[in-house]
Amino acid sequence: MQLSQEQLHEYRERGVLTLDALLTPDEVEVLREAYLRDSSVQGDHRVAERGREEARAVYASHLRCPEFGALVRSPRILGPVRQILGRNVYIYQFKINSKPPFLGGGWAWHRDFTAWRLADNLPKPLLVNVGVLLDEVTEFNGPVVFAPGSHHQGAIQGGPPAREAASQQHLDPDDIALTAEELTGLVDRYGMESVKGTPGTVMLFHPEIVHGSAANISPFPRKLLIMTYNDCSNAPRPLGLPRPEYIVCRDTTPLEPVDGPLPGLPGAQVTA
Ligand code: SIN
Ligand code: MN
Repeated sequence: MQLSQEQLHEYRERGVLTLDALLTPDEVEVLREAYLRDSSVQGDHRVAERGREEARAVYASHLRCPEFGALVRSPRILGPVRQILGRNVYIYQFKINSKPPFLGGGWAWHRDFTAWRLADNLPKPLLVNVGVLLDEVTEFNGPVVFAPGSHHQGAIQGGPPAREAASQQHLDPDDIALTAEELTGLVDRYGMESVKGTPGTVMLFHPEIVHGSAANISPFPRKLLIMTYNDCSNAPRPLGLPRPEYIVCRDTTPLEPVDGPLPGLPGAQVTA
């Protein structure tokens, strides 16, 4: 799978590109079942909604579940990622943000790279996020909202120096949230757009694009899987204690594409 020149141009100009139904309904079902299994495993990698039992986010499932391990190497995903970043890429972070019906909380407006620069001393924004909708996403269940083009403006300067922030987890963007004043200017210039779609739709988004999302007040779940790929030459250089491995993956070996059905589907080489 390769992006067309038009699609590459759209990604570079707008900082976000949607690929409708890149995964089949069967593949989405396999991933949902794997999530169901993995999200019941207790541990620090599983972050619950405030004061609740339900998961808000589950990290590093690709290291525990063969289905997600296969997904990160799928040529349909790796092809576009390598076009954007170059051949040598690895998974920097893997998470599934779950917004359960009625209670899933929102995510403050932020730029991802701000957190990664502060917490991990990541040198450059040589990353790309690949979001996979695991549920149907509508205006009601908390879609991600982007300010398309805002990545051109680069990360907000200021904030604590990397050394001070090195021990912070930055799992929630509240501490790097944009101010109302910053956001008013950004939205005035770039507008806002949410990504909605059927399960299996994929969105590529830039590490410096401004984005956030509202709470899920609908009766429908909204699970969003986000794989963040980094250029292998851009590994973190933590100044203090590195963040845990489930948040910042340590294996910087370049990923090679592996074709074939996901584990659990007919003809798969690996069983789930
Ligand atoms: C969300 O899950 O709605 C936000 C994801 C993100 O900030 O990357
Ligand atoms: Mn983000």
